[in-house]
Amino acid sequence: MSKPRVIVAISGASGAMIGIEALRLLRERGTHETHLIVSPSGAMTIAQETDMTVKDVEAMADERHSFRDITASLASGSFATEGMLIAPCSVRTLGALAVSLGDNLIVRAADVCLKERRKVVLMLRETPLHLGQIELMANVTRSGAIVMPPVPSFYTRPKDVAELITQCAARALDVLGIPVDDLKRWPTNEAGS
Ligand SMILES: Cc1cc2nc3c(=O)[nH]c(=O)nc-3n(C[C@H](O)[C@H](O)[C@H](O)COP(=O)(O)O)c2cc1C
Repeated sequence: MSKPRVIVAISGASGAMIGIEALRLLRERGTHETHLIVSPSGAMTIAQETDMTVKDVEAMADERHSFRDITASLASGSFATEGMLIAPCSVRTLGALAVSLGDNLIVRAADVCLKERRKVVLMLRETPLHLGQIELMANVTRSGAIVMPPVPSFYTRPKDVAELITQCAARALDVLGIPVDDLKRWPTNEAGS
Protein backbone atom coordinates (compact mmCIF):
# COMPACT_ATOMS: atom_id res chain seq x y z
CA MET A 1 0.00 0.00 0.00
CA SER A 2 1.25 3.52 -0.77
CA LYS A 3 2.27 5.88 2.01
CA PRO A 4 0.01 8.72 3.14
CA ARG A 5 1.00 12.02 1.58
CA VAL A 6 1.92 15.26 3.25
CA ILE A 7 2.59 18.64 1.61
CA VAL A 8 5.38 20.93 2.79
CA ALA A 9 5.64 24.45 1.40
CA ILE A 10 8.40 26.99 1.92
CA SER A 11 7.22 30.54 1.26
CA GLY A 12 9.29 33.71 1.37
CA ALA A 13 9.36 34.51 5.06
CA SER A 14 12.44 34.32 7.20
CA GLY A 15 13.03 30.84 8.64
CA ALA A 16 13.48 28.58 5.61
CA MET A 17 15.42 26.21 7.89
CA ILE A 18 12.20 25.29 9.70
CA GLY A 19 10.61 23.91 6.53
CA ILE A 20 13.87 22.19 5.62
CA GLU A 21 14.04 20.62 9.09
CA ALA A 22 10.44 19.41 8.76
CA LEU A 23 11.43 17.67 5.52
CA ARG A 24 14.42 16.08 7.26
CA LEU A 25 12.26 14.83 10.15
CA LEU A 26 9.69 13.43 7.73
CA ARG A 27 12.39 11.65 5.77
CA GLU A 28 13.83 10.22 9.00
CA ARG A 29 10.35 9.04 10.07
CA GLY A 30 9.82 7.48 6.65
CA THR A 31 6.09 7.02 6.98
CA HIS A 32 4.89 9.71 4.56
CA GLU A 33 5.32 10.60 0.91
CA THR A 34 6.45 14.23 0.96
CA HIS A 35 5.37 16.80 -1.63
CA LEU A 36 7.34 20.04 -1.69
CA ILE A 37 6.52 23.48 -3.12
CA VAL A 38 8.99 26.38 -2.82
CA SER A 39 7.88 29.89 -3.80
CA PRO A 40 10.33 32.15 -5.71
CA SER A 41 10.70 34.24 -2.55
CA GLY A 42 11.21 31.04 -0.57
CA ALA A 43 14.09 30.24 -2.92
CA MET A 44 15.54 33.67 -2.07
CA THR A 45 15.36 33.04 1.67
CA ILE A 46 16.94 29.58 1.24
CA ALA A 47 19.85 31.30 -0.54
CA GLN A 48 19.98 34.12 2.00
CA GLU A 49 19.67 32.11 5.20
CA THR A 50 21.18 28.68 4.53
CA ASP A 51 24.17 27.03 2.87
CA MET A 52 21.82 24.87 0.79
CA THR A 53 20.62 25.31 -2.78
CA VAL A 54 16.97 24.92 -3.74
CA LYS A 55 18.00 21.70 -5.52
CA ASP A 56 19.47 20.37 -2.24
CA VAL A 57 16.17 21.10 -0.49
CA GLU A 58 14.12 19.61 -3.32
CA ALA A 59 16.19 16.42 -3.12
CA MET A 60 14.89 15.92 0.44
CA ALA A 61 11.30 15.50 -0.80
CA ASP A 62 9.74 12.56 -2.62
CA GLU A 63 7.94 14.84 -5.09
CA ARG A 64 8.59 18.45 -6.11
CA HIS A 65 6.02 20.75 -7.63
CA SER A 66 6.43 24.02 -9.47
CA PHE A 67 5.00 27.05 -7.66
CA ARG A 68 3.19 28.15 -10.84
CA ASP A 69 1.82 24.72 -11.80
CA ILE A 70 -1.81 24.98 -10.84
CA THR A 71 -2.47 21.82 -12.92
CA ALA A 72 -0.42 19.77 -10.42
CA SER A 73 -1.98 16.85 -8.52
CA LEU A 74 -1.99 18.93 -5.31
CA ALA A 75 -4.36 21.43 -6.92
CA SER A 76 -7.21 18.91 -6.78
CA GLY A 77 -9.11 17.67 -3.76
CA SER A 78 -9.36 14.22 -5.38
CA PHE A 79 -5.62 13.80 -4.77
CA ALA A 80 -5.60 12.49 -1.20
CA THR A 81 -3.22 14.06 1.28
CA GLU A 82 -3.08 14.10 5.07
CA GLY A 83 -2.58 17.86 5.15
CA MET A 84 -0.12 20.64 4.61
CA LEU A 85 2.58 22.50 6.49
CA ILE A 86 3.63 25.96 5.29
CA ALA A 87 6.91 26.66 7.04
CA PRO A 88 7.70 29.45 7.07
CA CYS A 89 4.51 31.20 5.97
CA SER A 90 4.76 34.78 4.71
CA VAL A 91 2.10 37.40 5.28
CA ARG A 92 1.57 37.43 1.51
CA THR A 93 0.71 33.71 1.50
CA LEU A 94 -1.47 34.14 4.60
CA GLY A 95 -3.37 36.99 2.92
CA ALA A 96 -3.86 35.07 -0.31
CA LEU A 97 -5.16 32.02 1.60
CA ALA A 98 -7.51 34.21 3.64
CA VAL A 99 -9.33 35.12 0.40
CA SER A 100 -8.79 31.81 -1.48
CA LEU A 101 -6.57 33.52 -4.06
CA GLY A 102 -5.32 30.27 -5.54
CA ASP A 103 -3.17 31.66 -8.36
CA ASN A 104 -0.10 29.75 -7.19
CA LEU A 105 0.24 26.14 -6.07
CA ILE A 106 1.04 26.89 -2.41
CA VAL A 107 -2.16 28.84 -1.87
CA ARG A 108 -4.24 26.57 -4.11
CA ALA A 109 -3.03 23.38 -2.36
CA ALA A 110 -3.65 24.91 1.07
CA ASP A 111 -7.11 26.10 0.04
CA VAL A 112 -7.88 22.63 -1.33
CA CYS A 113 -6.81 21.06 1.98
CA LEU A 114 -9.13 23.42 3.85
CA LYS A 115 -12.12 22.73 1.62
CA GLU A 116 -11.49 18.98 2.03
CA ARG A 117 -11.33 19.55 5.81
CA ARG A 118 -7.68 18.49 6.02
CA LYS A 119 -5.18 20.04 8.39
CA VAL A 120 -3.21 23.10 7.31
CA VAL A 121 -0.54 24.46 9.65
CA LEU A 122 0.79 27.94 8.90
CA MET A 123 4.08 28.86 10.55
CA LEU A 124 3.43 32.54 10.03
CA ARG A 125 6.57 34.56 10.51
CA GLU A 126 6.19 38.29 10.97
CA THR A 127 6.53 40.60 13.93
CA PRO A 128 5.22 42.97 15.17
CA LEU A 129 1.76 42.63 13.62
CA HIS A 130 -0.85 45.20 12.63
CA LEU A 131 -4.57 44.60 13.05
CA GLY A 132 -5.09 43.77 9.35
CA GLN A 133 -2.59 40.91 9.65
CA ILE A 134 -4.22 39.69 12.85
CA GLU A 135 -7.58 39.76 11.06
CA LEU A 136 -6.13 37.66 8.23
CA MET A 137 -5.08 35.11 10.86
CA ALA A 138 -8.61 35.12 12.26
CA ASN A 139 -10.05 34.60 8.77
CA VAL A 140 -7.93 31.55 7.97
CA THR A 141 -8.60 30.15 11.44
CA ARG A 142 -12.34 30.41 10.72
CA SER A 143 -11.71 28.37 7.55
CA GLY A 144 -9.99 25.65 9.59
CA ALA A 145 -6.30 26.53 9.26
CA ILE A 146 -4.01 26.40 12.30
CA VAL A 147 -1.88 29.51 12.67
CA MET A 148 1.27 28.48 14.46
CA PRO A 149 4.04 31.08 14.50
CA PRO A 150 7.50 29.55 15.02
CA VAL A 151 7.72 30.49 18.68
CA PRO A 152 10.73 28.88 20.39
CA SER A 153 10.31 26.62 23.44
CA PHE A 154 12.79 27.51 26.14
CA TYR A 155 11.62 24.93 28.68
CA THR A 156 13.52 22.36 26.63
CA ARG A 157 16.76 24.24 27.39
CA PRO A 158 17.98 24.30 23.78
CA LYS A 159 21.75 24.18 23.44
CA ASP A 160 21.81 26.00 20.13
CA VAL A 161 19.72 27.40 17.29
CA ALA A 162 19.66 24.00 15.57
CA GLU A 163 17.83 22.52 18.57
CA LEU A 164 15.34 25.40 18.55
CA ILE A 165 14.65 24.78 14.87
CA THR A 166 14.21 21.04 15.39
CA GLN A 167 11.75 21.63 18.23
CA CYS A 168 9.78 24.17 16.13
CA ALA A 169 9.56 21.82 13.15
CA ALA A 170 8.78 18.77 15.29
CA ARG A 171 6.04 20.62 17.15
CA ALA A 172 4.44 21.69 13.86
CA LEU A 173 4.46 18.11 12.58
CA ASP A 174 2.91 17.00 15.87
CA VAL A 175 0.09 19.52 15.41
CA LEU A 176 -0.32 18.24 11.86
CA GLY A 177 -0.83 14.76 13.34
CA ILE A 178 2.61 13.35 12.53
CA PRO A 179 4.49 12.86 15.82
CA VAL A 180 8.27 12.53 15.52
CA ASP A 181 10.74 11.14 18.05
CA ASP A 182 12.79 14.37 18.06
CA LEU A 183 9.95 16.32 19.73
CA LYS A 184 10.72 17.14 23.34
CA ARG A 185 7.61 17.05 25.47
CA TRP A 186 6.93 18.52 28.85
CA PRO A 187 8.00 17.42 31.39
CA THR A 188 11.42 17.02 29.85
CA ASN A 189 14.33 15.08 31.33
CA GLU A 190 16.57 18.01 30.45
CA ALA A 191 14.47 20.39 32.55
CA GLY A 192 14.80 17.99 35.47
CA SER A 193 11.04 17.57 35.93
C1 LIG B 1 15.32 37.66 2.90
C2 LIG B 1 13.84 37.93 2.96
C3 LIG B 1 13.18 37.79 4.15
C4 LIG B 1 11.78 38.02 4.24
N1 LIG B 1 11.15 37.82 5.43
C5 LIG B 1 9.81 37.92 5.49
C6 LIG B 1 9.14 37.55 6.69
O1 LIG B 1 9.75 37.18 7.69
N2 LIG B 1 7.79 37.60 6.69
C7 LIG B 1 7.06 37.97 5.58
O2 LIG B 1 5.83 37.95 5.66
N3 LIG B 1 7.67 38.33 4.43
C8 LIG B 1 9.03 38.31 4.36
N4 LIG B 1 9.68 38.63 3.18
C9 LIG B 1 8.90 39.17 2.07
C10 LIG B 1 8.23 38.09 1.22
O3 LIG B 1 9.23 37.24 0.66
C11 LIG B 1 7.40 38.73 0.10
O4 LIG B 1 6.27 39.37 0.65
C12 LIG B 1 6.97 37.73 -0.97
O5 LIG B 1 6.15 38.36 -1.91
C13 LIG B 1 6.24 36.53 -0.37
O6 LIG B 1 5.79 35.71 -1.42
P1 LIG B 1 5.36 34.19 -1.14
O7 LIG B 1 4.40 34.22 -0.01
O8 LIG B 1 4.72 33.74 -2.41
O9 LIG B 1 6.60 33.43 -0.85
C14 LIG B 1 11.06 38.44 3.09
C15 LIG B 1 11.76 38.58 1.87
C16 LIG B 1 13.13 38.35 1.80
C17 LIG B 1 13.84 38.51 0.49
